[in-house]
Amino acid sequence: MKFGDVLKQADWKAEKHVPVIEAPEAVGSGALFDVTVSIGKGIPHPNTTEHHIRWIQVYFMPRDGKFAFQVGAFEFSAHGESVAGPNQGPVYTEPKATFAMKTSEPGTLMAVAFCNIHGPWESSAEIELA
Ligand code: FE2
Repeated sequence: MKFGDVLKQADWKAEKHVPVIEAPEAVGSGALFDVTVSIGKGIPHPNTTEHHIRWIQVYFMPRDGKFAFQVGAFEFSAHGESVAGPNQGPVYTEPKATFAMKTSEPGTLMAVAFCNIHGPWESSAEIELA
């Protein structure tokens, strides 16, 4: 078994675990652009002490490249924990992150999101050069 064998895929509109990648379809070479990754845009994912998204990591694979680059790693740490007990806390982190990046080559953005009880899920988006 390989790690890729346990990475699940689906349409984010129908499956709440799939990371949604919002990025331009085409960017200028070397120009900064924003990327937003999130969970639950189509169908909300629970965000409770017992069941939540722990992290999202984002990679970029240049089209003619040999190796992927990690461009972001985001950890979501507050899920209602409290001295009063699970789900009694006042603070919940939403599994959503926006960052900026640039590339001089077209390629594929790949996001992996990890649910603490449903494991890792992936999605991808193509980035062209304008
Ligand atoms: Fe889940």
